[in-house]
Amino acid sequence: MKVTIVGAGAVGASCAEYIAIKNFASEVVLVDIKENFAEGKAMDLMQTSSLNNFDTKIVGSTNDYSKTAGSDIAVITSGIPRKPGMTREELIGINAGIVKIVSENLIKHSPNVILIIVSNPMDTMTYLVHQTTNLPKNRIIGMGGALDSARFKYRLSEAMECPSSDVDGMVIGGHSDKGMLPLTRLATRNSVRVSEFISEERLYEVLESTKVGGATLTGMLGTSAWYAPGAAVSSLVHSIACNQKKMFPCSVLLDGEYGLSDLCIGVPVILGRNGIEKIVELDLSDSEMEKLQESAEGVKKTNALLDS
Ligand code: LAC
Repeated sequence: MKVTIVGAGAVGASCAEYIAIKNFASEVVLVDIKENFAEGKAMDLMQTSSLNNFDTKIVGSTNDYSKTAGSDIAVITSGIPRKPGMTREELIGINAGIVKIVSENLIKHSPNVILIIVSNPMDTMTYLVHQTTNLPKNRIIGMGGALDSARFKYRLSEAMECPSSDVDGMVIGGHSDKGMLPLTRLATRNSVRVSEFISEERLYEVLESTKVGGATLTGMLGTSAWYAPGAAVSSLVHSIACNQKKMFPCSVLLDGEYGLSDLCIGVPVILGRNGIEKIVELDLSDSEMEKLQESAEGVKKTNALLDS
């Protein structure tokens, strides 16, 4: 199993580290445009292999895509990250051009690749890859919901004063501060509804803090977060590589599911060796459905900026 990660910045490098530590891939290729940067990150990570007990070979490349040839999965993290106060949507001008070129280069050397898009605005970048490549739709996956759901579970665990391993919950909708839809109604602690443990007001606070999860960290760190994004990507890669058929909310092209079409937005999917094995249609309440429609309108507005 060969995995390429384009962008050896903080998200890309964390992702490579988590994949290596899980020890399921034979090779991870890190690509960056900055001379020797990916090679340096790869060497630093390889020097942890005897300490962290992994056999995955990590290779760096300065924009040489021939080294990525034959990749089964490729992750696109390249582009500029958010600065404090910026929205993900403001990155579209620069990132659209980068994501287009990177995806074309990847496909040229790995025609059977499954692409995972992380660059922001992620739902729009995923849609762009659908529009500009001829990859089948099961092989284009946007990473957002897995990260937002992990943040949701963390906030729920904080509120219930329990470990997050006790918590189950999912965030669907667009990967934006306004568009995220944490499904509080369906969240549970060991299959008991979270509303049994926390008040409605506290649950609302959890919902709001989840939606601004990325922005909060950007404000604290001065750039966007990397550990949880890297870990979320590595979980998607793991499920595909090992055909685990785990369910994650991911940004995928909809064609009538949830009454939506011609956009990529976060909904639960099963990830296996074919990429998206299945889109899961939840039985949403009327108000949840309404919020998902609103979120979709926001994503479509951002998508429209691709034309200009
Ligand atoms: C975040 C970026 C990865 O939410 O979108 O931290």
